[in-house]
Amino acid sequence: MSIRLSLRSTLHRGYDSPSERSGKYAGRVAAVSARRTTPGARASALSELGREEFLGGLEGLLAIYASAMDADAASLPSRRELMRRHAGYPSFRAWTASDQLTGEIVGFAYGFHGQSGQWWYDVVWAEVARYAGVRDAAAWLADCIEIAEVHVRPQDQRLGIGTSLILALTAARAEPTVVLSTPDRDSTARRLYRRMGFSDLVTGFSFPGGSPPYAVMGAGLPLRDPAVPLASPSNW
Ligand SMILES: CC(C)(COP(=O)(O)OP(=O)(O)OC[C@H]1O[C@@H](n2cnc3c(N)ncnc32)[C@H](O)[C@@H]1OP(=O)(O)O)[C@@H](O)C(=O)NCCC(=O)NCCS
Repeated sequence: MSIRLSLRSTLHRGYDSPSERSGKYAGRVAAVSARRTTPGARASALSELGREEFLGGLEGLLAIYASAMDADAASLPSRRELMRRHAGYPSFRAWTASDQLTGEIVGFAYGFHGQSGQWWYDVVWAEVARYAGVRDAAAWLADCIEIAEVHVRPQDQRLGIGTSLILALTAARAEPTVVLSTPDRDSTARRLYRRMGFSDLVTGFSFPGGSPPYAVMGAGLPLRDPAVPLASPSNW
């Protein structure tokens, strides 16, 4: 029986308005625990990468991106440049999951503090404001972490690694909210985000340049760990 390491937040969120949560859990850290999982599944370990380590390992991370997204080789140079640029953004953090037997990295996630002047942030702010109003745009985006990428190699998916990477990345952040965009369709990623507490802020949005439709999603921090059952109301 193999053992998979995963991050279980000791915290639990019970309401949905970002303003209600503002700053409430800043600086608190998720606890690491081991849990038994699918027989035959390989164990993986999570590690945090600094900016330099991220840049040093960029080619390996890009290869994981390419296999997870089945990306066209022609798209990789611009993706590489984007990842390099992201690494310079404020409060950049990256986490990897590695196979404990071989040490190979099997998945990664990264994010940073969203702020004006970042292309994605400015576009999303304008769209959330148009869709839901300026107050909502401010509530979600004024002090947020943007999750820019989360990818797991196809052969290592469906073992809880993506969930653990997102929990690790968002634990102990000072921001009260987390935002991201994902293709606007039913997908593993979309279901995973919903299970962790994300809701749709905008749907059917094409980024400038003519992308397929995206959903912008947001959640208050800390995220919900789907492995932790929701607390049932007390009888006392
Ligand atoms: C999205 C992605 C990062 C999720 O990573 P992951 O490691 O597969 O995620 P998890 O294992 O935590 O959850 C995925 C599924 O496995 C299931 N799962 C998790 N642990 C499991 C276990 N021990 N046994 C059986 N199923 C399990 C989850 O319930 C979920 O099921 P669902 O798809 O039916 O909703 C990964 O699928 C991926 O890289 N996809 C391609 C790239 C991509 O879309 N990235 C996101 C762009 S926005």
